[in-house]
Amino acid sequence: MTGAPAHGQNIVKILDVEFAGAMGSAGDPVPGDLPQIAFAGRSNVGKSSLINRLLGRHRQKIARVSGTPGKTREINFYNVRAEFAPGSQCRFLVVDLPGYGYARAPQPVRARWRPLIEGFLEGNDRLGGVVQLVDMRHEPTRDDHQMIEFLASLGIPTLLVLTKSDKLRAMARARREVEMAVELGLDPDQVIPFSATTGEGRDALLESLGGLLSEMEP
Ligand code: GTP
Ligand code: MG
Repeated sequence: MTGAPAHGQNIVKILDVEFAGAMGSAGDPVPGDLPQIAFAGRSNVGKSSLINRLLGRHRQKIARVSGTPGKTREINFYNVRAEFAPGSQCRFLVVDLPGYGYARAPQPVRARWRPLIEGFLEGNDRLGGVVQLVDMRHEPTRDDHQMIEFLASLGIPTLLVLTKSDKLRAMARARREVEMAVELGLDPDQVIPFSATTGEGRDALLESLGGLLSEMEP
């Protein structure tokens, strides 16, 4: 059976993933009308790595990852089929947004970013939520704050994922989790530490995505 997860149902397994298309400029069409979950954050925070790990594609990567910031410059869409209860499946689009705040990106790229992202987010009634990524080791930037405020102003459900958790020791990690929630004005329950390297946080994030999808209109 294919449908949306019911309230309280979690995604338990990713069945398959395929690249669905890219949006290079504001106004380009979204590939299809499936429910969408988007991933936002500054350049190099680990969006594409997280998407690969989340979708079980960390070995045979589907999203391009780079040590050079500014790798993802278009909005990329991935078509996902997942199981949320035995025999029950759902389909949705994972949306990899280009990273913001990369000062060395050429001016035309930076100038395109805002209308592209804002145009995608504003009035998007197929968007179930945005997963906002912040590097666990660093302070949120002014752009991070602006993004979270922008999402709140549009009433878009937002989760906070703290990336690269493998780079901190247990004590520092626990402290950063609380500090980040306080600094960004979020409930600690909305905050998920994640490591694309070890897979930590994957199950918790899949569970939260199930929650976002179950809140959407069919
Ligand atoms: P843009 O596409 O430029 O916006 O970057 P992005 O946010 O998609 O980041 P990407 O996934 O390309 O990762 C950037 C760098 O961080 C790469 O060198 C990754 O290997 C590294 N990285 C990402 N996630 C993790 C993580 O969980 N742990 C560690 N140790 N490194 C990570
Ligand atoms: Mg990327």
